[in-house]
Amino acid sequence: MTALLPRRLLSALFAAALAGSGLVHAATPLPQIVSAHGRHELLVDGQPYLILGAQVNNSSNWPAMLPQVWPAIEAIHANTVQVPIAWDQIEPVEGKFDFSFLDTLVTQAREHDVRLVLLWFATWKNNNPSYAPAWVKLDNARYPRVRKKDGTTLDSLSPFGAHTLAADRSAFVALMTHLRKVDGDRHTVIMVQVENESGTYDTDRDYSAAGDRLLQSPVPVAVLRKVGKSAGTWTQVFGQHAAEYSYAWAIAHYIEQVAAAGKAVYDLPMYANAALRDPLNPGPPGTYSSGGPTDNVLDIWRAAAPALDLLAPDIYMREYAKYTTVLDRYRRADNPLLVGETGNDTAYARYVFAALGHQAIGFSPFGMDYTKYSNWPLGAKAINADTIKPFAANYALLEPMQSLIAKLSFQGKVWGVSEPEKTHEQTLDLGDWRVKVGYGQPQFGMDPPMGNEKPSGGVLIAQLGKNQYLVTGYHARVSFLPPKGHAGEHFLMDKVEQGYYENGQWHFVREWNGDQTDSGLNFTGQPQVLHVKLATY
Ligand code: DGJ
Repeated sequence: MTALLPRRLLSALFAAALAGSGLVHAATPLPQIVSAHGRHELLVDGQPYLILGAQVNNSSNWPAMLPQVWPAIEAIHANTVQVPIAWDQIEPVEGKFDFSFLDTLVTQAREHDVRLVLLWFATWKNNNPSYAPAWVKLDNARYPRVRKKDGTTLDSLSPFGAHTLAADRSAFVALMTHLRKVDGDRHTVIMVQVENESGTYDTDRDYSAAGDRLLQSPVPVAVLRKVGKSAGTWTQVFGQHAAEYSYAWAIAHYIEQVAAAGKAVYDLPMYANAALRDPLNPGPPGTYSSGGPTDNVLDIWRAAAPALDLLAPDIYMREYAKYTTVLDRYRRADNPLLVGETGNDTAYARYVFAALGHQAIGFSPFGMDYTKYSNWPLGAKAINADTIKPFAANYALLEPMQSLIAKLSFQGKVWGVSEPEKTHEQTLDLGDWRVKVGYGQPQFGMDPPMGNEKPSGGVLIAQLGKNQYLVTGYHARVSFLPPKGHAGEHFLMDKVEQGYYENGQWHFVREWNGDQTDSGLNFTGQPQVLHVKLATY
């Protein structure tokens, strides 16, 4: 019979058997990402799961900092926290490991009832090896750095360094082995990010001998298939893009080997994150982190690194046009969308709705702790109750129904939008109905939408059944319309129930009618969830 058991269930059972440290909890299935019909779903404990995340600051990965982390996490109502685990922290001396921070972190995350995503800061942390141990980052002979065209070296480590790969991989395997031992039965850690914003600034590739050789080597079949080109060397197939594309392949191939080795011991979902290019005016490689999973090399990365479940954009662009273009580009049939990092300034909060409208499996503002660091101008000038407020409002609204949203999103039944800066009305096509979303209107009357004082609106709609929708949001008016081609037909909102979810269960509070529905469904700064039933007559 065991042949019929799903592979992940088997590995969960195996992990539980290996846990072997005192109390062993009943094994739940391993977290996993499933894909079908071009859509994706994260399952945690076998249930659809939406990451309502928060990432701590880079240097908050020390036990003494955690008391300044948890109050912020509680205030924002995150269900998942992303925390760095640094190579120099776990292997300061070659071959000698210290997992004490990880143990503390996992214990405290359980006490605070949140899941974790670990961020493996190793060969790459924002292009450089600052989080690699001294025995790596100070030994250029064994662990070579990237060479520029003019022969000078950069701070980035070369993806062609065989010793670097071996050392990073074995540290990562040690990490995953320990994690399986302490968490293989509970899955407090649901996902691992492998490296951080890989790539290199100030060059398009590594001009080492190995980098030169790669350019003249055949493009791997997996890449050719993905991009629909016929055989040849990188130079022949990709011409003027060969330098950047081959470099992207080299980095992706390196990270693939780290991730695959980690998965072989403990099969958690894994991903890599991207320091983005400007999606509208990218400029030449090197002005952005070249070789990382930027939007122009996603095909190469997906082909080179199948052990990665996804490539996540780190979105620090406040403008609506750029933000939503990035969402468009990273939401792919072969790439589940995860907003792995985003700015923590209030202007970013509303984008959770657009992200969900792009079927995101998660969203996570960066720098959400009270260690008194601010990465302004990328994020907020200070992290305090005011900055946290709009993110907290979103998560408080979404958390009680997060699993339902994740489930319906996987079925293609979720729509979401955020308020643009320049236009104040959007139309959504739900198939059976259309929806007009307006921003900056009084609750009563038909004044045209003028936009909120600062763009802050967002709407989420999920189809619950035929002509039945869950509608929620902030600072926006929602009006249902018949579908295209049915303009003259009579229709009405048969019933509008306001209520709330608790552990996925709907609780009715009252019906909306009269003034509350005559001018559309008006969402204010209060958390309001509606069930709307539409009918024709
Ligand atoms: C993106 C990186 O991934 C983060 O670790 C951090 O450095 C931010 N940029 C900037 O605060």
